[in-house]
Amino acid sequence: MAEIVCIIGNKGGTGKTTLSHMLCQGMGLLGQRSVCVLTDTHREPLSPDGRRYLVADARTREALGKVVDKIRALQGWLGVIDGGGNRSEMDRKLYGLANLVLLPFRDSHEDIRTVIQDLETFPRAWAIPSQWPTNPWQQEAAEKTIREQLGKYADRLLPPINTLSASKLLLQTNIPDKLPTPLGNACRALAYQVLDMLEVACEAPEEEVEDEAAGEKMNEAAAPSAAEAFDSASPTRH
Ligand SMILES: Nc1ncnc2c1ncn2[C@@H]1O[C@H](COP(=O)(O)OP(=O)(O)O)[C@@H](O)[C@H]1O
Ligand SMILES: [Mg+2]
Repeated sequence: MAEIVCIIGNKGGTGKTTLSHMLCQGMGLLGQRSVCVLTDTHREPLSPDGRRYLVADARTREALGKVVDKIRALQGWLGVIDGGGNRSEMDRKLYGLANLVLLPFRDSHEDIRTVIQDLETFPRAWAIPSQWPTNPWQQEAAEKTIREQLGKYADRLLPPINTLSASKLLLQTNIPDKLPTPLGNACRALAYQVLDMLEVACEAPEEEVEDEAAGEKMNEAAAPSAAEAFDSASPTRH
């Protein structure tokens, strides 16, 4: 049976969509098959071309049920469901069906206040700092805020996802042929962390140092067979 990761939270703009795509891209780079599931009715589906994962449109309740059933039947796959924000009922539903729940939040009082509420509402969920500052002084201040305000939840906090302007490339309808190396590295690190939490065995990723290497890897053809397997919802594929 496939594992399902849901990225939810009651606040918009925290990085749910970005994180969903980074996680799926990272899974692809680590040789794992995944599907990024859109549930946000305010968003349009993105083209799967050039991505190392599939995308599924589940913006209606019926479509979500079908997509989840389909993913569940695919042995060894990972479904990543991108929540919509400001939708408590949907978040509860997604929480109920997920193997792992991530709650991204930024370094802002509003985000921290909301993530505390979400951590209380969803006791199995993990908070993940997103769009985290990379400047040492800002970073230190952000860590202090976390210690002071999220100290009680320290054991449910994941390592931060840094601010990375290249992350927006994954949200483009069509992604460029080559993605910058730091983005690939961040995607791989996130995917490795999630695989570890799901107790899926995987070799530790090595950091890419050259753009060319990342570009070549992007062109390896993993997607067509993945698409085929998903379309036929074949339970025999691994
Ligand atoms: N790690 C990051 N680094 C830089 N910008 C980011 C990062 N994560 C998200 N963003 C930006 O923040 C905005 C909101 O992100 P998005 O993923 O759409 O949030 P949500 O889905 O929670 O509404 C987008 O413009 C996105 O490009
Ligand atoms: Mg979103």
